[in-house]
Amino acid sequence: MYFDPRDKEYPLKHDPLTSLVVPRPIGWISTINRAGVVNLAPYSFFNAVASRPPFVMFSSAGRKHSQTNAEESGEFVHSLTVWDLREEMNITSADVGPDVSEPELAHLEMAPSVAVKPPRVARSPVAFECKYVKTVDLPGAGGKPNPYSIVIGEVVGIYISDEVIVDGKVDLSVRRPIARLGGLDQYTSVDEIFKLRRPG
Ligand SMILES: Cc1cc2nc3c(=O)[nH]c(=O)nc-3n(C[C@H](O)[C@H](O)[C@H](O)COP(=O)(O)O)c2cc1C
Repeated sequence: MYFDPRDKEYPLKHDPLTSLVVPRPIGWISTINRAGVVNLAPYSFFNAVASRPPFVMFSSAGRKHSQTNAEESGEFVHSLTVWDLREEMNITSADVGPDVSEPELAHLEMAPSVAVKPPRVARSPVAFECKYVKTVDLPGAGGKPNPYSIVIGEVVGIYISDEVIVDGKVDLSVRRPIARLGGLDQYTSVDEIFKLRRPG
């Protein structure tokens, strides 16, 4: 099968795009809005895009609270999604008004960050504190406007729980990070790890 993804009709029952880039890490983005409400939402169009200095990005399908808050306040935090927080992560994806705080909705305790105002998810073993850098609006394609904007942040502080530091190295295996698969509500968790030595 081969097709132009800009065509109106897909040759499959569902848009396959998200099933073709797997697994996708989930950015669990906390921000604070102008009224001081803490917002939290998952974004699977998320990744680290540079390591030294570290930068991350998440992509918003239309202007959502996380994008607006990151742009207006200049800050956001990403907390790592792990197996025992999967239900809470899902609850925080609810489409609720700006006055509703998703951590409260999901009964999630938040912990203060060090370098930025948005707090991190207390039970998550890793958090990236980010300063907003810029938003890249993607161009339209196939004659249609593009709703997606990429929000880029510089990581200025990293929290790592002591429980996942073993012999001076990070070992997240006990917390089983989770990631997004295809469009049919499918996820995976990091349960199998193998090693491959680079040549040379
Ligand atoms: C696992 C998961 C991944 C998601 N990834 C994205 C994404 O990459 N981009 C997006 O716009 N929405 C994504 N969503 C939907 C948002 O989480 C949802 O629209 C949420 O209400 C946005 O919240 P906000 O307005 O507080 O930012 C995802 C939802 C789930 C459950």
